[in-house]
Amino acid sequence: MSRQPLRPRRLRATAALRSLVAETHLAPEQLVWPAFVVPGRDRLEPIASLPRVARRSVDLLLPELERALELGIRSVMLFGVVGEDAKDAVGSAASAPDGPVPEALRAARAAFGDDLVLMTDVCLCGYTDHGHCGILAPPRPGGSHARVLDGPTLPRLAAMAVRHADAGADVVAPSDMMDGRVAAIREGLDDAGHDGVAILSYAVKYASAFYGPFRDAAGSSPHGGIDGHPAPSDRRSYQMDPRNAREAAIEVALDEAEGADLLLVKPALPYLDVVARVRALSDRPIVAYQVSGEYAMLEAAAEAGALDRAAAVRESLTAIRRAGADLVLSYHALEAVAQGWLR
Ligand code: PBG
Repeated sequence: MSRQPLRPRRLRATAALRSLVAETHLAPEQLVWPAFVVPGRDRLEPIASLPRVARRSVDLLLPELERALELGIRSVMLFGVVGEDAKDAVGSAASAPDGPVPEALRAARAAFGDDLVLMTDVCLCGYTDHGHCGILAPPRPGGSHARVLDGPTLPRLAAMAVRHADAGADVVAPSDMMDGRVAAIREGLDDAGHDGVAILSYAVKYASAFYGPFRDAAGSSPHGGIDGHPAPSDRRSYQMDPRNAREAAIEVALDEAEGADLLLVKPALPYLDVVARVRALSDRPIVAYQVSGEYAMLEAAAEAGALDRAAAVRESLTAIRRAGADLVLSYHALEAVAQGWLR
């Protein structure tokens, strides 16, 4: 055998050697668990496109949060889901003090004190009767589709964030992609005496096909319209174009300047180049969201016997961390820790 000065395989020989030189680690506290919460009691609603993920009323959510804490997961991201009868054109229910999210926040704070970091999604799409993330206006003169406006949306997002902060949120996470919302939410929180509540901005959020199952879960697919004008059936006028990576730098710079404490990139696996780019641009903590479609894809492949579920989930989560994410938001979080998939 020829003499080779460096043989990388020497350090791959045993599991002990491999873990000694591993560059990336995945710990339970680096996972955030996304949870859907519905009004009422004793409600556990499976989601067809997301196997083993359910919408829960607060009473059934609390035991899951306790399990998360026992597993070493320290944070949850709450998404509120309300019935169609509670929705209107401007998403009024988003800032109702007795909505499912404020109710869950109060109950979780009472049950777990400061042990669990309580994060909330801030967006109107689950509360508007047209499913868009902002307020609609008629088309431009001669235009065919209603527009989604920043202006009237910002105060509603700020009010929603304040309501969540009132109920005990540690972190509010605007996912709407309206321009200027981080500044509007920061001002709203500060004016309401919540200057200690942090903002996790969905700074780099793409208009992605991988959100499909989430929209089933949250009943938030864009549809309908205003004054007889149809609304767009997608979110491409506010979420980012998948063809663009440099544009991420613009979003990051704006959200940092507006006061975002943490930054989020989503989806995760198809956008690892963007995660790495944002890592290089920012010293803020970076969260990557392994979204519903990523989860559904892994589950379908595992169910079909095409992939080893544990290994594929571990590898996906590790790749997201390796690309530069500090934290990963994942529907697999609880199961991955409980089943030992991270090791
Ligand atoms: C709300 C929101 C969405 C997701 C998180 N927050 C859906 C969307 O933008 O349509 C998607 C998360 C997932 O797919 O898991 N704006």
